[in-house]
Amino acid sequence: MKRPQLERPALLEARGVTRLYGPGKGCEDIDFRLHEGEVLGIVGESGSGKSTLLRTLCGMETPDAGRVVYHSDVERCLDGATDDGELDLYAIGEARRRALLRMEWGLVHQNPRDGLRLGVSAGANIGERLMALGDRHYGQLRAAGQDWMGRVELDPGRIDDAPRHFSGGMQQRLQIARTLVTRPRLVFMDEPTGGLDVSVQARLLDMLRTLVRELGLSVVLVTHDLAVARLLADRLMVMCRGRVVEAGLTDQILDDPQHAYTQLLVSSVLTP
Ligand SMILES: Nc1ncnc2c1ncn2[C@@H]1O[C@H](COP(=O)(O)OP(=O)(O)O)[C@@H](O)[C@H]1O
Ligand SMILES: [Mg+2]
Repeated sequence: MKRPQLERPALLEARGVTRLYGPGKGCEDIDFRLHEGEVLGIVGESGSGKSTLLRTLCGMETPDAGRVVYHSDVERCLDGATDDGELDLYAIGEARRRALLRMEWGLVHQNPRDGLRLGVSAGANIGERLMALGDRHYGQLRAAGQDWMGRVELDPGRIDDAPRHFSGGMQQRLQIARTLVTRPRLVFMDEPTGGLDVSVQARLLDMLRTLVRELGLSVVLVTHDLAVARLLADRLMVMCRGRVVEAGLTDQILDDPQHAYTQLLVSSVLTP
């Protein structure tokens, strides 16, 4: 019998996660649970600590205090997990964290240059994530590359071109293909549509929304753009000076914000 959602272990859990560079700089005492198939948006103005939190959640930045707990797919990741697959991210060591990123997670950086190798072909950028999982069949890697280029609306005929010849929007599409080709159980995205022209952003956002729905992705999404949060996120956490000031369902937060900071954030978007 299927258990109700509340009883399922969370896929990712933050318990009192803190990473501070100075007072109010970074993230402090963050708690949340993300369940499979959910998109959690982390919003707040620039400097509120969103990226610091994301880096701490995905193993790139060691917390000063608190725990990040991930419920691993026990089939793939037995070592270091308890019986129910619970992994304490900062107790398992650097090598195992990197293995998680390779095998079960995906990361989409704001700047596609941080997530791509610009000098090698688009096909190799996509294929090497699969190769890292043990896939060595050239024909299949190439077919997967073409398939995923199509899915992110890139011309599959450009599979042999290096992404340094692509526009910023195309590079971001390629980064998304490279991230999703391995079907990650959990995806971290930091401002995935940031730094792009408005028209390019709109198309990319549309495509991302389709992919998130089709693949039933579990996502931690950082964005300062409430329109992006509205379209992609099921739930939101609002950050101010490193702390969560309000959390809840996306529509509730954006349509009926309770905290003065959230009200300001929402109204500054509405005011031209
Ligand atoms: N590596 C770092 N060293 C020192 N201060 C940092 C570092 N990274 C971020 N900060 C500071 O922490 C605060 C939060 O930054 P960040 O997490 O990037 O915010 P956001 O992503 O919400 O814009 C900012 O004041 C920023 O200057
Ligand atoms: Mg940021």
